Amino acid sequence: MRRSGLHRQHGKQGAGGGGGGAKGIYTKLTIAVVVLLICTLSLLFSATIGGNRGSLEPSEINAEELWESAKSSGWRPSSAPRSDWPSPPRETNGYLRVRCNGGLNQQRSAICNAVLAARIMNATLVLPELDANSFWHDESGFQGIYDVEHFIQTLKYDVQIVESIPEIRKNGKTKKIKGYQLRPPRDAPIEWYTTVALKKMQEHGAIYLTPFSHRLAEEIDNPEYQRLRCRVNYHALRFKPNIMQLSESIVDKLRAQGHFMSIHLRFEMDMLAFAGCVDIFNLEEQSILKKYRKENFAEKRLVYKERRAIGKCPLTPEDVAYLVNHSSTQGVAREMVLIYKY
Ligand SMILES: *[C@@H]1O[C@H](CO)[C@@H](O)[C@H](O)[C@H]1NC(C)=O
Ligand SMILES: *[C@@H]1O[C@H](CO)[C@@H](O)[C@H](O)[C@H]1NC(C)=O
Repeated sequence: MRRSGLHRQHGKQGAGGGGGGAKGIYTKLTIAVVVLLICTLSLLFSATIGGNRGSLEPSEINAEELWESAKSSGWRPSSAPRSDWPSPPRETNGYLRVRCNGGLNQQRSAICNAVLAARIMNATLVLPELDANSFWHDESGFQGIYDVEHFIQTLKYDVQIVESIPEIRKNGKTKKIKGYQLRPPRDAPIEWYTTVALKKMQEHGAIYLTPFSHRLAEEIDNPEYQRLRCRVNYHALRFKPNIMQLSESIVDKLRAQGHFMSIHLRFEMDMLAFAGCVDIFNLEEQSILKKYRKENFAEKRLVYKERRAIGKCPLTPEDVAYLVNHSSTQGVAREMVLIYKY
């Protein structure tokens, strides 16, 4: 565990990515507990699950329906610009560097925000830096995970992107700009980028925003800006071929056995504290969680007794054991459990 110093304030997005340094009982829990559990439930027969056993009434649940795509209710993909969307100006206002933080998902959404921030500022985006200190201790940078050329090509009508800030030659000397370091407010409005950040960028030639997760408001009253974020997420960000091949071969193997389900367990101190899932712990443990919540997250009135009942808590290791045991002893499922230890 080397997550201290990564404290974040959480808003409506929920806990994602690293939390603070878990200590005491929770260190044991966190280490012992499965972080990632892929549970493959291969339904041997296409009919209903498990016949009459368990508490589910077979008439109420049609297993096949569970595996269908969710109905879109009229929603449709919205990535291409629908109004005038000029190419980025040749003249750049400077370079934008960002350091994403948190879990992979949170970092992915930070990349979407970085592209939009660069667009708003008429800036040149430097390939976003990923969080190498996260709990999985993976040193891979953007280049190691995503297809860089595809990323730059896909977004060429949106922003200029470079892999690094080019060196500047001045009076026979080469100079490297690092960027003026700024800490953006959480969920910063567009105006922050066009005023405070832009001013510093013009003064210094480059800015370095860190940390950069949840640093641009989610709700922006400009559909074209929202579409740009979709373009980044659904089109520009593509994993590298070796990652795609490996993941496809895993998924193919799982699918060959039938349907499968993956569960991100997330039974960890920061998530439990964030979601207010304290009811299954003893009083001493509850006070640790409550204290952690107070120190790290925005205040919110939570009725602790209700959190689990309304589905706000991650499955406990016990819950998962029941699920896995039940499905396997009923002869309707196969499970593969991956333990991610850190
Ligand atoms: C960015 O460039 C466009 C024109 O290409 C201009 O309308 C806009 O005001 C510029 N924004 C900033 C922050 O420089
Ligand atoms: C697993 O499930 C079976 C019935 O589905 C039950 O008899 C058994 O006690 C369970 N094992 C555990 C460890 O709970």
